[in-house]
Amino acid sequence: MKVCVFGANGYVGASVYQQLHHTDTDEVVGTYLQEPAILEGLYKLDVNEPESFSNFYKKENPDVVVWTVMSGPNEHKLTDQGLIHLITHLTPQTKLVYISSDFVFSDGNGPYEEDDPLSNLPDDHSFSNYANGKVKAERLIDNELTNYIILRAGPIYGENGIGKLDERTDQLSYHLRSGNPIEFRDDLIRTFVHIDDLTKAIDVMVHNDVTGVYHVGPEEKQSFYEFMKQMAKQMGYDDRLVKKGSEIEKVDTEIPKNTSLITEKIKDVVSIEFK
Ligand SMILES: NC(=O)c1ccc[n+]([C@@H]2O[C@H](COP(=O)([O-])OP(=O)(O)OC[C@H]3O[C@@H](n4cnc5c(N)ncnc54)[C@H](OP(=O)(O)O)[C@@H]3O)[C@@H](O)[C@H]2O)c1
Repeated sequence: MKVCVFGANGYVGASVYQQLHHTDTDEVVGTYLQEPAILEGLYKLDVNEPESFSNFYKKENPDVVVWTVMSGPNEHKLTDQGLIHLITHLTPQTKLVYISSDFVFSDGNGPYEEDDPLSNLPDDHSFSNYANGKVKAERLIDNELTNYIILRAGPIYGENGIGKLDERTDQLSYHLRSGNPIEFRDDLIRTFVHIDDLTKAIDVMVHNDVTGVYHVGPEEKQSFYEFMKQMAKQMGYDDRLVKKGSEIEKVDTEIPKNTSLITEKIKDVVSIEFK
């Protein structure tokens, strides 16, 4: 079986690309965009560039595609261009594993089940490009394809398969190492998922016949403050340096309060003890 990981230079993509190489029976290819490529053997490709996308895809012709590209403020472009290029090339036999986000529930009244309605942020909101880009992508996939998995994740943390730490924990550790306090909000509730668990779940989804939408992560829901305090302790720092951040925000930058995920459904498909 041939698997293609788009975005294999990224935090999630690199872990997935590494993990899939452990299986001898699969051929794994991956793409990157910005130099330098962290891993060997990746192909340089801008997924938004139609001609090079088409040439690459036709040459590789994978059985499974794992889509881990992300471009925060340009997420809409990635959906309107890159994802559409992909969808026009996929055959009904090719499975798509798309990594989505709890940001698709931007009204913030979680915890959410897989079937709960998606919501958009107002266009002028600072996170609207990312959140609404993800909503648009999920709707496109659901309308156009049948052979797909959408895996929705909350904040992803931990050291990935190539030793890279997520940005939030990296920032936490930087502050605590220098003995500086750092603040996190106690009113923003999320389902935090460890990169190893997410990577294993993607590996299972690549290799089975299951399709549909799944929330990935543990049952536990925590605020950023609770989670970061726990991380500080785990890393051996003084957790008293982790303080509660202000909950006062301007309306146009208000962050969705509770986008935690109900993660029961995935337990029927993967036997992972989520951390
Ligand atoms: N990190 C989280 O906490 C989190 C939480 C929930 C969901 N997710 C989802 O997980 C997925 C992976 O996120 P991540 O944290 O791994 O992001 P990331 O580290 O920023 O990786 C994204 C990758 O996308 C590639 N990329 C961006 N624009 C591209 C383009 N036009 N053409 C080709 N490649 C392009 C980048 O390649 P280069 O590095 O080569 O430039 C980058 O490596 C995303 O779908 C994201 O929405 C992440």
